[in-house]
Amino acid sequence: MTSPVRVIVVGAGNRGENYSNFASVHPERMKVVAVADPRKFARTKLGKQHNIGGENLFEDWKFVVEREKFADAVIICTPDRLHKEPAVAFAKKGYHILLEKPMATTVEDCKLIVQTCIQSGVMLSVGHVLRYDPTIHKIKELIDAGAIGDVIHIQHLEPVGFYHFAHSFVRGNWRNEAESSFSLLAKSCHDIDLIHHWAGARRCLKVSSFGSLSLFTTENKPAGAADRCLDCPVEKDCPYSACKIYLDSIKRGHTGWPVSVICANSHPNLESVTEALRTGPYGRCVYACDNDVCSNQIVNLEFEGGVTAAFTMVAFTEEICQRKTTIYGSKGELSYDGHQVRVFDFLTQMSTRHVGQDDIPKKFGMSGHAAGDYNLIRAFISAVANGDPSHIRSGPEETLMSHLLVFEAERSRLQSRVVYCGETNQK
Ligand SMILES: NC(=O)c1ccc[n+]([C@@H]2O[C@H](COP(=O)([O-])OP(=O)(O)OC[C@H]3O[C@@H](n4cnc5c(N)ncnc54)[C@H](O)[C@@H]3O)[C@@H](O)[C@H]2O)c1
Repeated sequence: MTSPVRVIVVGAGNRGENYSNFASVHPERMKVVAVADPRKFARTKLGKQHNIGGENLFEDWKFVVEREKFADAVIICTPDRLHKEPAVAFAKKGYHILLEKPMATTVEDCKLIVQTCIQSGVMLSVGHVLRYDPTIHKIKELIDAGAIGDVIHIQHLEPVGFYHFAHSFVRGNWRNEAESSFSLLAKSCHDIDLIHHWAGARRCLKVSSFGSLSLFTTENKPAGAADRCLDCPVEKDCPYSACKIYLDSIKRGHTGWPVSVICANSHPNLESVTEALRTGPYGRCVYACDNDVCSNQIVNLEFEGGVTAAFTMVAFTEEICQRKTTIYGSKGELSYDGHQVRVFDFLTQMSTRHVGQDDIPKKFGMSGHAAGDYNLIRAFISAVANGDPSHIRSGPEETLMSHLLVFEAERSRLQSRVVYCGETNQK
C-alpha cells in the first residue's frame, strides 16, 4: 500500500486526538478520513485539524458502521464501557482495529472481541503503550538476550501520582467502577501485561490480591470543608485542591494535561477552567465524590516453572506513573527506575546501563508515555500498510491472556482468596 492508511477515529477525546497527531506528523503514512464523537466540540476540532468534510463527522460510531466500508482501519478511543460494541461491529465490517485499553470490561467481552477479529481476519492492536516505550522494550530485549539468565522473580511498582489519582480516579472518568472499570483494569492492565510479557508469556497458575480505597471517602472530609474547592475555606491546606491542580496551572500558562481535559466544550483558559471547577466534576472536593475504585492494590502471581511476581499500584506518590521494576534472574539482576535500565551481572559483578532510543515528534507531547503512544500508532500503521501483524506488540492473543489475569486478580481481591487461574468456579 503506497497511499496513506485511511483511519476513522471513534472517540475524539484525549486519546483519539493524540493518536490522530500521527497523521499530522506523517501525512504520507496516515490520513484521518472520519471522526465519530457525540461531543460537537471534540469532533469539529479534530475535523478541522484533518480537513474532514461534514459528511464524515459523525455523532455516533453506529452511523459509521451503517455505511459501506470506506477506510482501512479504525482507532477506537471511546470510554472503557464503550469498547466492545464498536470493536465487534467494525471487525465484522473488515476494519483493522487499534483499540484502547482495557479491551473491554468483562472477560466475555474481551474474548468476543478477540474471537471476532480473528474470524474476520482483521488485525487488532490494543493500547498497551508501555510495550512500545523504547526503554521498557529494552527490558524484554535484555531478558531475551539472556542478560540475567532465567527470570526468577519480578517486582513491579506503579506509582500513580497523588494529583493524577485525584484527577482521574476520584473526580474523573475512571472514578466509579459501574461507569468505567475497576482500577486494576483501568490503570494496571498495562502493568500486569508487562509482568506477563517479562515472564515469557507463560501460563499463570495462581493469583492473590488485596486492595482498597483509602483516604478519598466522606469520612475523611476535613471539618468545615465545602463540596467544591472554589467555595472551600480549608482548600489552602489540601494537596488535592482543584484550585491547586487546575487553576494554578492555567495561571502559570500550562494548558496541557490534566487542564486540557476538564473543559468538555471549549479550550482551557482562566474563564473556562473556573467555570469547569464551579459546575463540573473536576471542581468537587475529593472527599465528596461518587468514587469507589481502589487507591492501593497489590497482586502476587505464580507462573509455570515457579516464576513469581509481586505488583503494587499506589495512588499516594510523588512520581506520576514512572514505573519501578526489579527483575531477579539466575545470572543477574535488572532494575528499571522509570528512566534507565541497569543490569548487574553476578559472574563479573559489573553493571551496565541501557536506555532505549527515543526520538519523538513534539506533537506527541511530553507526557510519560509519549514515546509509547507514538511508537504504538506507528507500528499499527506499518502493520496495516504492509498487511503484516508482526509490527504489533500488543496483539489479540497475548493481550487477552494478560487481561484475563487482571480479572483473576480482581476476583481474588473481592473473594479474599487465592485464585487458581482458569478454574471453572468463577463465583
Ligand atoms: N493507553 C493508555 O495509556 C490510555 C491512557 C488514557 C486513557 N486510555 C483509554 O482510552 C479510552 C479513551 O480515554 P480518553 O482519555 O481519550 O477519554 P475521553 O473522555 O477524553 O474521550 C472519550 C471520547 O469518547 C467519546 N464518545 C462517547 N460515546 C461515544 C460514541 N458512542 N461514539 C463515539 N465517541 C463517543 C466521548 O465524547 C469522548 O470525547 C479509555 O478507554 C481509556 O481508559 C488509555
